[in-house]
Amino acid sequence: MTLRSAQEGQGRAPLLSLVNVTKSFDATQALRGVSLTIKAGEFVGLVGPNGAGKSTLIKILDGVYGPDGGTITAGRVGVVHQDLGLIDSLTVTENLRLGQPALCSVPPLLSAVRERDFCREALRAVGLRADLAHRSVERLSLGERTLVAIARTLARGAELIVVDEATSTLPPRESGWLIDTLKARRLAGAAVLMVSHKLAEILGCADRCVVLVDGKLIADEPIERVDLATLTRLMSRSSQQQAGPERACRVPAGSPLLSLAGASTALAGPFTLDVHAGEIVGVTGLVGSGLYELALLASGRTRPASGSVRTAAGVRVGLLPPDRSAQGSFPAESVAWNLTIGGLRRWRTRAGTLDHPAELGAARALAVELDVRPPNVSARMAALSGGNQQKVLLGRMLLAQSDAQAGCVVLCEPTRGVDIGARADIYRLIRQLADQGIGVLVVSSDTEDLLTLADRVGVVENQSCQRTWRPDELSTEQMASLL
Ligand SMILES: Nc1ncnc2c1ncn2[C@@H]1O[C@H](COP(=O)(O)OP(=O)(O)O)[C@@H](O)[C@H]1O
Ligand SMILES: [Mg+2]
Repeated sequence: MTLRSAQEGQGRAPLLSLVNVTKSFDATQALRGVSLTIKAGEFVGLVGPNGAGKSTLIKILDGVYGPDGGTITAGRVGVVHQDLGLIDSLTVTENLRLGQPALCSVPPLLSAVRERDFCREALRAVGLRADLAHRSVERLSLGERTLVAIARTLARGAELIVVDEATSTLPPRESGWLIDTLKARRLAGAAVLMVSHKLAEILGCADRCVVLVDGKLIADEPIERVDLATLTRLMSRSSQQQAGPERACRVPAGSPLLSLAGASTALAGPFTLDVHAGEIVGVTGLVGSGLYELALLASGRTRPASGSVRTAAGVRVGLLPPDRSAQGSFPAESVAWNLTIGGLRRWRTRAGTLDHPAELGAARALAVELDVRPPNVSARMAALSGGNQQKVLLGRMLLAQSDAQAGCVVLCEPTRGVDIGARADIYRLIRQLADQGIGVLVVSSDTEDLLTLADRVGVVENQSCQRTWRPDELSTEQMASLL
């Protein structure tokens, strides 16, 4: 330890200290000698591919599992699991009261006053309005629910707040709000340990980043010392190794369907990148990096000021825009209407009218294929969950692509605001597109999208992306520079 960090550490006892913690489930070694120290006032990001051991680590902190070996010294830890653990049919107050026996030990009248003050204070600590206290949890937005879950851990005296992927299903505005709240708690003397697949988000809010791969803590660095490209490469390589032979990379054959060569707009570029038939190329980047500029160029929505964007003969490029609510979705119209609007030509009769029964039949069949829930195509789009709305928009692209000779799609943030169940369905649909020979470009700030889907990965940095790599191409030097 250097003199400076020794001085900084003085008077700030660690809130958490793990030394050499191990945990196995039968043959699976989920944690292999993990050591980690967190002090008050720190905001630590925990990242790693699926199956790395993140949730196991958190469950050990929460006392769900005991470790097989090693030592744990912890202050008061409050864990917000991905499912939040709230009871939806109860009010906010009732949820906050759970696990607060002190509130029940005084006479009823006093208890009511005390409870009101207690809830006001708990809600204020996370920036929620006091009048939400009597609302039932099921009537809150997902972001508000997450904040109530955090308020509950704070009210129980948590000094270290641990959040497991709490932002992964939130719309951007609500995750920004959640992160601001966590930052404020850190300034108030708590510490935060946040698990997220959104590396860009971690890079924007944490002071330190800890990388867990295959049960080992392979990096623990101040945030200034890690960047998106290195983290993405590190995680994509290890997830590739874990995935086994059934997820072998598709090796692109023939000439590309879509090709960007030094393409730039006034705002961003140059971008150089190819997409072949049947291939999934994934590109990530920080907010404001020029990521969506790339999507607009690739899909032909923006013309390049210099360089070129070329498509093979007969290729139509579809675009799933980044903001579903503002672009592409028609919330007041029916699911059927939203599905078929991009391909009405095919139901035009000789007389020039629309064959409604045929259109509706096709919409019904597609809704079943996409597993849209509820499967009622006359429901209004606005009545569907975010994940199901996203399936409908993907279905519209499928339909529009199905009469082109060869197709290419650019999918922006395909899992944004999507619940966990629908996420797997959306990954399956995207793979299906590629299996049908469509070239897919996934443009996403969520690294899980890339790790799960992409055959090749690229990162937009300083408004530019010049090359992509296969996950197994990470050099040993790049690995070593992080370890
Ligand atoms: N209860 C359990 N029983 C058996 N294996 C488990 C259990 N929980 C986790 N694992 C395994 O331990 C490894 C780490 O899982 P997990 O901690 O959930 O990873 P992460 O949260 O990083 O995706 C995985 O291989 C997973 O299959
Ligand atoms: Mg997990």
